Amino acid sequence: MDFQLTEEQQAVKAAARDFAQNVLKPGAIERDEKQEFAKEEIKQLAELGFMGMMTDPKYGGSGMDTVSYVLAMEEISKIDSSVSVCMSVNNSLVCWGLEKFGTEEQKQKYLVPLAKGEKIGAFCLSEPEAGSDATSQRTTAIDEGDHYVLNGTKNWITNGGSASVYLVIAQTDVEKGHKGINAFIVERDMDGFVVGAKENKMGIRSSDTHTLIFNDVKVPKENRIGEDGFGFKFAMKTLEGGRIGIASQALGIAAGALELATAYSKERKAFGKEIHKHQAIAFKLADMATEIEASRLLCLKAASLKDEGKPIGHASAMAKLYASKTAMDATTEAVQIHGGYGFVKEYHVERLMRDAKITQIYEGTSEIQKVVISRGLLAE
Ligand code: CAA
Ligand code: FAD
Repeated sequence: MDFQLTEEQQAVKAAARDFAQNVLKPGAIERDEKQEFAKEEIKQLAELGFMGMMTDPKYGGSGMDTVSYVLAMEEISKIDSSVSVCMSVNNSLVCWGLEKFGTEEQKQKYLVPLAKGEKIGAFCLSEPEAGSDATSQRTTAIDEGDHYVLNGTKNWITNGGSASVYLVIAQTDVEKGHKGINAFIVERDMDGFVVGAKENKMGIRSSDTHTLIFNDVKVPKENRIGEDGFGFKFAMKTLEGGRIGIASQALGIAAGALELATAYSKERKAFGKEIHKHQAIAFKLADMATEIEASRLLCLKAASLKDEGKPIGHASAMAKLYASKTAMDATTEAVQIHGGYGFVKEYHVERLMRDAKITQIYEGTSEIQKVVISRGLLAE
């Protein structure tokens, strides 16, 4: 693994940092408070080519590598993880899933506008009774010749209200268990598709999380992704890459907290000196920096493996497990370093602490990452 960033990768990192600091930062606290989706800012993100970063330019993407994606996700997540989760879902779940497994027609019709950021995508696996236990799908898709009929409910869907293309996992044959699951492309304006309630969340409050309801939604057969019965493997393969995105989000949250805490520790005085001159504070910064660097290396390792076309399941699970714990630890310490000022909403650091928690839950909880990692170890 080469730890030197290329000029192109450095330029991507710089562009993402500039965008985050200048475009996202000014409104981030207010958007969080009002739970307001960053519609205009995400349009600008698309103009930078960041909504289809890794997609081939022939399908409207930017053709960058996964390492660049990690660098961009880190910089954007330092400031606003509500924006970076939208970006992560669009890039690594929706665009990647379509590019890797879609037909040429599906790519032309759906991937091109998604990768250009003209449309936003959503990935719909979780249900009220199927979260970690993702094979227990209750949403059904009945084969009726030239189309399927979908019925059921998905919940917690990121970009649920702002997307126009939805990749939906559903059970076509209960008898076959996970081999009877398929993935479908559903358009927002298909009859019977309803965007339900928006969640009122602890963190990533300006991201757009909704319940989705399918009432006899007719989906043409050409909208099924892959061979019959491929849906569960489609979801698992796609999530392997998605977890690199969320690991990088967690890394960014932690690194953003360290930047804020370091700056504050140089400004704030107590007992006649800057607080970083108290060893207890300096040691907190040292611990945070070390854990963040370890998280960064795990993210870059998983990204490099993906760029080399090697298996990434374990590496991405390790990166997500470790970086999400680091995000919780680092943001908690950053609030501590800010004292009372860390507890009020005028300071970005309290939002980072609330945003950190979700990285241990979505795209597979920390316990599920341990299931993936330990199964891999024991199978060796
Ligand atoms: N790649 C390919 N195939 C895979 C796979 C992978 N990574 N992981 C499992 N499979 C296959 C298995 O080989 C098996 O197929 P065969 O029988 O043909 O061998 C099949 O899938 C079933 O696998 P398991 O027996 O391992 O299934 P399980 O019921 O034990 O569950 C699990 C495995 C890893 C726990 C899985 O259910 C899981 O990942 N759960 C978490 C779900 C999740 O991450 N949800 C995220 C939703 S999206 C999201 O959250 C987005 C967001 O917030 C922004
Ligand atoms: P459960 O699966 O019920 O888990 C409850 C607890 O039990 C957890 O601590 C879990 O780790 C533990 N547990 C469960 N099984 C095991 C086990 N085998 N071993 C050890 N511990 C276990 N989903 C999507 O499909 N698309 C999205 O875009 C999306 N976005 C989301 C956005 C937000 C803000 C949130 C909150 C969720 C989102 N999700 C999305 C859903 C998310 O992926 C699930 O919440 C997550 O997978 C956990 O499922 P669950 O909530 O049903 O918890």
